[in-house]
Amino acid sequence: MAPIDLRSDTVTRPTEAMQEAMHRAELGDDGREGDPTVRRLEALAAAKVGKQAALYLPSGTMANLCSLLTHTGRGAEVLLERTAHIISYENSGLSLLGGLFYRPIPGTRGAMDVTALEFAFESGLASKQLAPALVCMETTHNTAGGAVLPLDHMAAVARIARQNGAKVHLDGARIFNAAVALDVSADKIAVHADTVCFCVSKALSAPVGSLLCGSSAFIERARHFRRMLGGAMRQSGIVAAAGIVALESMVERLRDDHANARLLAEGFHQIDASLVDPESIETNIVRADISGSGRAARRWVEELAAEGVATSDYGRTQLRFVTHRHIGPAEVEQAVAAVRRVWERASMQPRQRAAG
Ligand SMILES: Cc1ncc(COP(=O)(O)O)c(C=O)c1O
Repeated sequence: MAPIDLRSDTVTRPTEAMQEAMHRAELGDDGREGDPTVRRLEALAAAKVGKQAALYLPSGTMANLCSLLTHTGRGAEVLLERTAHIISYENSGLSLLGGLFYRPIPGTRGAMDVTALEFAFESGLASKQLAPALVCMETTHNTAGGAVLPLDHMAAVARIARQNGAKVHLDGARIFNAAVALDVSADKIAVHADTVCFCVSKALSAPVGSLLCGSSAFIERARHFRRMLGGAMRQSGIVAAAGIVALESMVERLRDDHANARLLAEGFHQIDASLVDPESIETNIVRADISGSGRAARRWVEELAAEGVATSDYGRTQLRFVTHRHIGPAEVEQAVAAVRRVWERASMQPRQRAAG
């Protein structure tokens, strides 16, 4: 791990309490009669988001795909905000493996334009397909910089979907960040979706795993797709034990990550106001626009790495910084100082195109 790793909250290591729980976990074979620790995690997960049942899967990507396959059938259309993680980062699993196709809906800060969603149904585009459509939302929204979907927006999307006979899936990989930011329990968010998946492997610090939650009948069907995808693990109670600790004790501390992200954004804003508006930071993701430096994002990543700060580029003009349990105010200060040095070096040199 680089000294200051702000690439993602997935870099978080299991806590001591998690390691202890993993060591002591009661185990079984989750591909056969079941693993008791996995069962406990699934029951806890379902309760947290107010659903009847849950299924433990190796990743958020597989949980989303498993949900899409369970909800739909070949030829079905999936409607998503156009920058959704499912579209951008899940390697077209829905099309290649599911025979599904997606309709990107324009949006703002990850919230799809409800008029455009309504139009997709009204125009008959979405309803004439081979199987009922599915609408997906994402909160917090990754590419929208950790933006939280407003609950009234979620209710409106769910209403439109239901009026048109479509089900709703929520990619809630970071639903607990959204819950903490909104000051509500996660079930108040998940109520606007038939199914929700979330990750314990991100800021909640467990090493592995995501939970897909929904009705008991849905989860029974999803279990078959999990096996088809190769996601039925065996003594997975070892890692599920850490997931239980994550859900029981790691949610409230997400407030610290959000405060540190805000601090980071304020530091960047002081270097140059064009970098980021601190008011836009809702959770633990900070997107900085470095186009004013005249230097490409990829070069920034290299220069910051040389300064001991790991980050990731998004397109040519944006960097993404994600705060998490291993990042405190001291690391924030060092990261801001490193960004300041790179910014000052860039401004002393002749301008290049951001693509350069
Ligand atoms: C919004 C969102 N959904 C799904 C995923 C996929 O999770 P995983 O990396 O566990 O496959 C991520 C990962 O960053 C994400 O940000």
